[in-house]
Amino acid sequence: MEKTRTTADGSTVVLRTLELVDLEQIHRLECELFPVDAWPIEMFLAEVQHPTRHYIVLEQEHQIIGYAGVMTVADTADVQTLAVCSSARGRGYGRWLLETLHEQALARGAERIMLEVRADNPIAQNLYLAQGYTPVHRRERYYNDGVDALIMMKNLENVESLQEEKHHDQ
Ligand SMILES: CC(C)(COP(=O)(O)OP(=O)(O)OC[C@H]1O[C@@H](n2cnc3c(N)ncnc32)[C@H](O)[C@@H]1OP(=O)(O)O)[C@@H](O)C(=O)NCCC(=O)NCCS
Repeated sequence: MEKTRTTADGSTVVLRTLELVDLEQIHRLECELFPVDAWPIEMFLAEVQHPTRHYIVLEQEHQIIGYAGVMTVADTADVQTLAVCSSARGRGYGRWLLETLHEQALARGAERIMLEVRADNPIAQNLYLAQGYTPVHRRERYYNDGVDALIMMKNLENVESLQEEKHHDQ
């Protein structure tokens, strides 16, 4: 799987499946972006090799600028992680990663997708709300520093089957 976008200054951003050689760069980013509860590199290694997981990265000029992963088991998927480096934010990359996770989950048979997000992270919550997620539960003091987690959920719609239905209705 590979997708590309060209930025305003003409450079190319590639969205592709994560490879093991990316892990060192990803782990550096992880420690910077999630200082309270960064995953150890061994956890990334176990995650990316697990058959129910699919991990993707964003790469620009040989630098990883974002990464995300999804777990799909039967009809339910879970966003495992999602991050964009500080210097590349606000350009639609978080949305691009999330939409690609939705496509991967749908392709693996998921009908809904869940995630947990820190209650003190309004930016990520905005992204998820804008992508059709709704809060369904609050887990108190879920994170290492005592912050609550919001559990959010979205029903995944198969765009192709919706188009087919529309076609039949006409
Ligand atoms: C959350 C995160 C992935 C968003 O990535 P991004 O590439 O900046 O997001 P996008 O540019 O794709 O923006 C998508 C939506 O997110 C929301 N958003 C993004 N930046 C925002 C900001 N500064 N303030 C408020 N909402 C914001 C908006 O809803 C935006 O949609 P819009 O552009 O139509 O307004 C990024 O901020 C990040 O990596 N944060 C640190 C790690 C993290 O919190 N991960 C989520 C863990 S659950």
